[in-house]
Amino acid sequence: MRPPALPAPKPFSALFGGLYAAAYGLGGQPLVYRAVERLGPVVALPVLGFGPVVAVADAALAKEVFSAKPDVLLGGEGVGPAAAIYGSASMFVQEEPEHLRRRRLLTPPLHGTALDGYVPVIEAATQAAMATWPVGTPMRMLEAARDLTLDVIIQVMFGVDDPAEVERLGEPFDELLTLAISAQTPVRYALRRAGALRAWGRLAAVNRRIDEIVFGLIAERRAAPGAGGGVLSMLADARTDDGEGLSDNEIRADLITLVLAGHETTATTLAWLIDLLLHHPPALELVRAEARSGATAYTEAVINETLRLRPPAPITGRMTAGRFQLGDYTLEPGTRIVLLLDVVNRDPHTYPDPDEFRPERFVGTRPHPYAWIPFGGGVKRCIGASFAMCELVTVLHTILRAGRLEPVSPRLECPQSGATPVLVPRNGTRVYFSHDTRSQPVVCR
Ligand code: HEM
Repeated sequence: MRPPALPAPKPFSALFGGLYAAAYGLGGQPLVYRAVERLGPVVALPVLGFGPVVAVADAALAKEVFSAKPDVLLGGEGVGPAAAIYGSASMFVQEEPEHLRRRRLLTPPLHGTALDGYVPVIEAATQAAMATWPVGTPMRMLEAARDLTLDVIIQVMFGVDDPAEVERLGEPFDELLTLAISAQTPVRYALRRAGALRAWGRLAAVNRRIDEIVFGLIAERRAAPGAGGGVLSMLADARTDDGEGLSDNEIRADLITLVLAGHETTATTLAWLIDLLLHHPPALELVRAEARSGATAYTEAVINETLRLRPPAPITGRMTAGRFQLGDYTLEPGTRIVLLLDVVNRDPHTYPDPDEFRPERFVGTRPHPYAWIPFGGGVKRCIGASFAMCELVTVLHTILRAGRLEPVSPRLECPQSGATPVLVPRNGTRVYFSHDTRSQPVVCR
């Protein structure tokens, strides 16, 4: 089951679970870390139902993985468990050349000048959310951030701003996300690969509700080209170089991918960001000053450092199509490579005192492409990275201009253990919120 010449820690042979469960469930995360520390940066993990799996935790090897040709290391197969949620038509689980064809169409609405248009939407959504936050009693920033980032992504994707409509459209996606981050997803993937999959009624029901909404909206936009807004309209009108458009099913799958991939990760980062800032008052004051001045350099450094220490999606995967030489190791065809992004991000050679929160590491310098990989890398590097940075800066500045946050606990949050693919703060980042009566009016950039 395991590739030759790779060290495999004993405790794993007893583990049953999925890809994510192996790394982060059933207490697996500390085991993986210990194994990597003890046995080296490439460790075989026998995970029942997943075929050969190797964990990789080294920047030089991450570079080899991200630079490999896409027909040598398969990106879609590598993130295979996601297909159950995003749909098999999602660009996320497609291989080349289809993946690239679709990715090209999704790139313009998530980059460049398109981002400027989202800033007022994000500011307004943040102000509306703050108006509902309880004052003086502890609140969990993680859930508040999830609600907020769902509102934002729904408005951006569907081009709607009526609160009732945003809620109606967001509700089934929220339910789908709950399924996506449940421990069931990887286990069901393993069962399906073993030919023992049974129907998943809850998933089918939520998909039917999404179909009704999304196919209805696509039909409306197709009937009136140029009408309506949001990424949905852009996708309905989009054409590749050869003049081909996207099918309804492809648009549906890519919308689900963007909504789900774009909202939970950003919300979780916001919760970690606020936790780290509230426990590092000098950094908080510098970000507050930028919120007033409109500068962003230090705030972006803080976000980069947060993503280094607490990457919300701590692993990603690739699958070997044929034999693959990774450093000194030969991987057999069909081996699943799991990159431990959070271990690579803490490489002590690149980051002295790697566990310490020091945003200054990123002031005036770009993050290392292979030793800072919270967004993955290569042809599948997160397509929403610029959008996420724009959203995080805007939300944080909007909050700090008009509100005050205090930590409930004097201690920093720890990551929640258990079978979840997302690295979330165990107590949800509990804070006291109050409106800042001395605040100046919000200035839009
Ligand atoms: C802080 C926030 C985010 C983090 C940490 C994050 C992280 C990641 C990671 C690790 C990957 C896998 C990359 C790889 O395998 O090399 C990924 C892929 C992806 N992300 Fe994000 N993401 C974030 C926000 C977003 C947002 C806001 C969107 C969309 C609006 C988005 C959409 C996607 C998509 C579509 C992919 C698949 C790309 C492809 O297959 O080509 N993400 N993200």
